[in-house]
Amino acid sequence: MSKQFKVAVVGATGAVGEVMLSILAERKFPVGELVALASERSAGGKVKFGNREVVVQDLATFDPTGIDIALFSAGGSISKEYAPKFAAAGAVVIDNSSAFRYDDDIPLVVSEVNPEAARHRPRGIIANPNCSTMQLMVALAPIYRKAGIERINIATYQSVSGTGRKALEELGRQTAALLNFQAVEPAVYPVQIAFNVIPHGGDFTDNGYTTEEMKLVWETRKILGDEAIRVNATVVRVPVFYGHSEAVNIETRDKLSAVDARALLETAPGVEVVDDPVGGGYPTPVTHASGSDPVYVGRIRDDLSHPHGLNLWVVSDNIRKGAALNAVQIAELVAGED
Ligand SMILES: NC(=O)c1ccc[n+]([C@@H]2O[C@H](COP(=O)([O-])OP(=O)(O)OC[C@H]3O[C@@H](n4cnc5c(N)ncnc54)[C@H](OP(=O)(O)O)[C@@H]3O)[C@@H](O)[C@H]2O)c1
Repeated sequence: MSKQFKVAVVGATGAVGEVMLSILAERKFPVGELVALASERSAGGKVKFGNREVVVQDLATFDPTGIDIALFSAGGSISKEYAPKFAAAGAVVIDNSSAFRYDDDIPLVVSEVNPEAARHRPRGIIANPNCSTMQLMVALAPIYRKAGIERINIATYQSVSGTGRKALEELGRQTAALLNFQAVEPAVYPVQIAFNVIPHGGDFTDNGYTTEEMKLVWETRKILGDEAIRVNATVVRVPVFYGHSEAVNIETRDKLSAVDARALLETAPGVEVVDDPVGGGYPTPVTHASGSDPVYVGRIRDDLSHPHGLNLWVVSDNIRKGAALNAVQIAELVAGED
């Protein structure tokens, strides 16, 4: 019989945790036993795993002895406190928060781009990248390998599910209230998100960029192993429930035409090209990404303003490939090790 794993999902009641559970079941991950963990608030409740229900346990009082693989998705402070305890008890931790991503001795892995990095994990922890970096890397790594990339200029159009369950509720509530001509009070975001766009994700830093923008800089360099690559990002939150979109302009080292880039991406792992110059011949969160696994790429164009420039439109489900799916793919890499 092939090996079965005792798997813990930490943050099992959250927007990402819930999808981790469904992807583990969908992909028939060899789960011998599934442990669902959350805070004291949700302990005793139930979550769905395949066609059965699992009782949620309180992370604070749970003993991690015997856990083989732990998928953490309960926020950075929870990961900082509990992930090392799970790793010390023998689990391989796959962490979805930003707690360890920038530590030199923690691999940061996109399963299609640098799977080999997952093997070297001296602290027993592997980090899952930020959702916007994840889809960017799946689309750009094949181009980087073929032609080199010197500079990336990106503007994101990020859905509210990237901020968690409370943000999904806020967009729904505000939309309903405004359609009934009622006033809204922003709670999750600093200003109204319904029927609006907000050029702000994370916290502002001293250089004027936000933390969500700097994640694109730091994580791109770490995943591609290239400290010289220049990244300029503007992160924008939009009133979309699921699926992040990105307008990406790159400058390659060697000339790569739009025709050649399209051909390259058509065979790239994890990528689906949707690129017809007609109405609807491009990916959007609603028509393509929401609920799907691929990273969709369209609007592939030569940059009229730069001889080595290329434009792309990259769309993916931020909860699936951007978080839960990649975490499960990393777990599959770990499970497949000799
Ligand atoms: N959403 C995305 O696109 C995305 C992408 C990449 C990474 N991430 C990261 O993934 C993490 C979770 O995001 P999310 O969107 O799923 O958030 P969420 O919907 O707000 O869910 C948070 C989860 O964490 C649990 N939790 C909160 N406090 C806890 C505590 N003290 N002890 C144990 N569990 C606790 C919650 O359990 P209760 O039900 O008990 O409150 C819930 O299960 C964050 O670190 C986020 O940055 C999210």
